[in-house]
Amino acid sequence: MLRRHLLLGFAGLAAMSAAAPVAAQETVKVGLIATLTGPQAASGRQKVAGAKLYMALNGNMVAGKKIELIIKDDTGVADITRRHAQELIVNDKVAAISGFSLTPLALAVAPVITQAKIPAIIMTAGTSIITERSPYFVRVSFTLPQQSVPIAEWIAKNGAKTAVSLVSDYGPGIDAQDAFKMRFEEKGGKVLEQLKAPLANPEFSAFLQRAKDLKPDALFLFVPAPTAGSLMKQVIDRGLIEANIKVVGTGDITDDDQLNGIGDSVLGLVTSHFYSAAHDSPMNKKFVEEFKKANPGMRPNFIGVGGYDGMHAFYQALEKTKGDTDGTKLVEAMKGMSFESPRGMLTIDPATRDVVQDVYIRKVEKKDGELYNIEFDVVKQVKDPIHK
Ligand code: PHB
Repeated sequence: MLRRHLLLGFAGLAAMSAAAPVAAQETVKVGLIATLTGPQAASGRQKVAGAKLYMALNGNMVAGKKIELIIKDDTGVADITRRHAQELIVNDKVAAISGFSLTPLALAVAPVITQAKIPAIIMTAGTSIITERSPYFVRVSFTLPQQSVPIAEWIAKNGAKTAVSLVSDYGPGIDAQDAFKMRFEEKGGKVLEQLKAPLANPEFSAFLQRAKDLKPDALFLFVPAPTAGSLMKQVIDRGLIEANIKVVGTGDITDDDQLNGIGDSVLGLVTSHFYSAAHDSPMNKKFVEEFKKANPGMRPNFIGVGGYDGMHAFYQALEKTKGDTDGTKLVEAMKGMSFESPRGMLTIDPATRDVVQDVYIRKVEKKDGELYNIEFDVVKQVKDPIHK
């Protein structure tokens, strides 16, 4: 209360002496294009919560400038993402844009950011190729090959000789299935079939039946995280786990946001991913605690962490340029950047602008009455294996 009165007092003073304080408060705007409605809405909710939490914990002043976050909902439609990007750049004069819940949404802004020379920080989308589509992309999330190779190795090492993959039929799914097959077969396994389900229609039962009929040792799965609940319920209903098929995947399928809703049938399921809400570090403990406090009823997932780290990358870059918002300088400042995230250490590869990070092997376990992905092994500092 006292603080508010003081602030009001200062504001009053500032209003009275019109000249001085105006120039001192230069604002730097950052666009956050999130998917807040439609089937991928859970993604936008996490990303916005992560970005806002970062600002709440770290303040909104960087290099003497006030940071303003402008949030837009693209509803998961690429044309809308592109339009928001254009408007943010032309009308709002943002220093950077960020977000991108799905690969096609990120790809849609590539020509816009290249032409405008404005950085775009990718907080979710995970197809390898994205960062090659513009020198202004910087990625703090992950790539699907980066996550899929470690689980291919793990399942081959743990006795699987044959596997089937089932993924959503678009960029990250194709990347995931191909990287899985490449490494699984290098290790002596055989992928019997690569199944692809349409992204728009989360109906997996025919594909799961086909996978079951093929009787593989393992089934590898990827869908975008907001679809995980619906996929895993069908995996359980089709009896794939009881059929003695070892179900594995990238951590998208046991997304922290949905894991408790999926239920105990997935206890013991092994996935590979860069973030778990159960990651054992002091920084993550604090992050999870603050995230839950600010967003009652929610648990952070990797998308929330992407929002948080994306803001950190921008803050650090602006600090490095001493407040210069030139887009090319900001991208240069992000190249080679290395920092501790709630996930562990991450580095932005200076050559590719893509994220290099630890990939954990985790198992679903119950802790304090809730389901978590408990990390039990790690592959250190993994680069995208496709576009090195
Ligand atoms: C993507 O579209 O690139 C994407 C979306 C959600 C995920 C992973 C990848 O969980």
